Amino acid sequence: MKTADRSWMNTGLTVDERVGKLLSQMTLTEKVGQMNQINNLGLDHGDVIREGRVGSALYASSATAGNVRDAGVDLDNLNAIQKMAVEQSRLGIPLLFARDVIHGHRTVFPVPIAQASSWCPELVEKAASIAAKEAAANGIRWTFTPMLDICRDPRWGRITEGFGEDPCLCSRLAASAVRGYQGDDLSDPLKIAACAKHFAGYGGAEGGRDYNTTDIGYRSFRDIFLPPFMAAANEGIASIMAAFNEIDGVPALANKHMLTEILRNEWKFDGVLISDWNAVCELIDHGIVQDKREAAFISLMSGLDMDMVSGTFIAELPSLVDEGKLSIEPVDAAVKRILSLKFKLGLFERPFVDKTLGKKVVLTPENRACALALAQKSMVLLKNDGILPLKKDIKRILLTGEFARSRTELFGTWTLDGRSEETGSVEEALSQRLPDGVHMDVHINYPDEIVRMARSTDVVIACIGEHPGRSGEANSIVSLDLPPGQLERLKAIADMGIPIVAVVFAGRPLAINWLSKRAAAVLYAWHPGIEGGRAIAEILFGDVEPGGRLPVTFPRATGQIPIYYNHKPTGRPLPPSLKEYGRYNDCLDQPLYPFGFGLSYTSFTYEKLEIVKNRIGTDDSIEVSCTVTNNGEREGEEVVQFYVRDCVASVTRPVKELKAFRRICLAPGEKRIINFTVPVAELSFTNINMKKTVEPGDFLFWIGPNSMEGLEGSFRVTVDGD
Ligand code: GLC
Repeated sequence: MKTADRSWMNTGLTVDERVGKLLSQMTLTEKVGQMNQINNLGLDHGDVIREGRVGSALYASSATAGNVRDAGVDLDNLNAIQKMAVEQSRLGIPLLFARDVIHGHRTVFPVPIAQASSWCPELVEKAASIAAKEAAANGIRWTFTPMLDICRDPRWGRITEGFGEDPCLCSRLAASAVRGYQGDDLSDPLKIAACAKHFAGYGGAEGGRDYNTTDIGYRSFRDIFLPPFMAAANEGIASIMAAFNEIDGVPALANKHMLTEILRNEWKFDGVLISDWNAVCELIDHGIVQDKREAAFISLMSGLDMDMVSGTFIAELPSLVDEGKLSIEPVDAAVKRILSLKFKLGLFERPFVDKTLGKKVVLTPENRACALALAQKSMVLLKNDGILPLKKDIKRILLTGEFARSRTELFGTWTLDGRSEETGSVEEALSQRLPDGVHMDVHINYPDEIVRMARSTDVVIACIGEHPGRSGEANSIVSLDLPPGQLERLKAIADMGIPIVAVVFAGRPLAINWLSKRAAAVLYAWHPGIEGGRAIAEILFGDVEPGGRLPVTFPRATGQIPIYYNHKPTGRPLPPSLKEYGRYNDCLDQPLYPFGFGLSYTSFTYEKLEIVKNRIGTDDSIEVSCTVTNNGEREGEEVVQFYVRDCVASVTRPVKELKAFRRICLAPGEKRIINFTVPVAELSFTNINMKKTVEPGDFLFWIGPNSMEGLEGSFRVTVDGD
């Protein structure tokens, strides 16, 4: 085999020049090898590595790694594998090591839907930057996150992995996550390539059944499901993962309109497009190709660059080219994008990872402080009759519930590297925080003993909810009720008039009607990560307030699904009051808790709504403000939200759309004018002619604390603002 001139190693050349020089030296097998990702690549794959038939390695326990722990990633092993690739293959192209670092590596942050509840892009970015450092120090330079699937169906277990139901909130957090993982320079050894997934529409699975068919209308596809991916692409995300699902009969990997016409031609995305696990082969199961050969051909021609673990590209593409059935151009285009990412990551200059890095960046106090802050800001106070924060007259506490002593169950799904000994339970955190003179009993096993003990207590703290094992991938459920057995004992306690503070752990909205009526307080903790126990203790005793606001609508019943705030008016709009005739005979129409909702330990008033101009040109901006006051005796944070409604358009428009938000902190009694400036272009939508445009006309707008409350105003958009 001829030796290469290795001129691509000249760092004085541009990335494109280096890619071109390397590509010109590569054989067909070596090219397709770069497009091949193998799971759990090891030194036992010596031939594949030396022959250049693999470009990337994923480290995952299985096809559904989110809830199946593996042995973790060993840096010495990765460095040894990389050494084999760099020193024993003909061209010495370094491998790109990938792992699902979904919400933290060793410092486990709250699950993504909890992070979305913080409505705090800065903290989401900081958490991603910490996850990047810890993963990079462990040899991982590519993560398959952020997941940007809009979801309106909590039966779908993967709702926990995304940022909720709203395109505006999801888009803002998408950009934050990209900045956190990638920073400004991917060659920074503590930055990693991010991957927006699953492109696209996966969250629309019918019945909430994972991997199921989606039948999304094209306008919804464009205006609801795509914006977060576009935000990630505009932020410079390094890669995107194509989804498993079909949309209206076309599986993602066969959807050239989506993978090439939109992603490449319209958005000018020039990063790497990777398939999901074995998805190339699954085109056969979808029934749109006969065999692997066709599957490889159609997915490459649709726009795919890299084949995640199916082995189909490396098995089929070389012979398709050799037989003249496939031109080399699409192969070269894919390989260029893959090599470009590797050059940008600095892998050719620094293929190995310094073992001493880990000690400096893993589980530092700063990392834990960020995890604590994010947990505190993501927990949502849904109800409080005044019992929280716990007062001085509380002398006896009974802590109970399945999660009272949990450790790793607080991490949530997709926790591949968090460790039990590195976190603490709610019990431990409460015990450390108990004020003098307060006694806490703990009992979680025998319901009759729990009820007996409750009689002599001032408050029961019930840590209940869903186990992370039924959250995440391949974990859809048919009922959003609390898991069996959790309510019965609480009902017995409530019937004795003993106040219950329910702390609910979950990866999705649950239908917590009984709690909303009969508990004294409900704190929705999600799966809050490594500092979750401490965050709960500090919230319950009032050291900090719960800062979360819902990123997804909470239904009263499973039967209400799909239910979301930015719904269409229909020809028979919902009645304004809860009591009037609605859509169901057996359930009120409004959700249990609306998108954007969350209480704090103080209260806020909104007044003096103002708009700078109420006739605004299409090239101009909407400038609105209102005054927010903290009425309480303690400092508090509020997420001020700005919504609009397009009253008349060429197609039906949602009754409300979030267009901006801001988290503020007000001292007791403090008033502050909150301004929003939103370009009119943000009002664009896919119109009757399938064109993204702003249509002049009348709009309503609101500034308020959630999607169901707020001060209302109006403005008109005209062509030139006259
Ligand atoms: C899984 C998931 C995807 C994940 C990948 C690698 O099936 O769908 O989100 O990144 O495989 O583990």
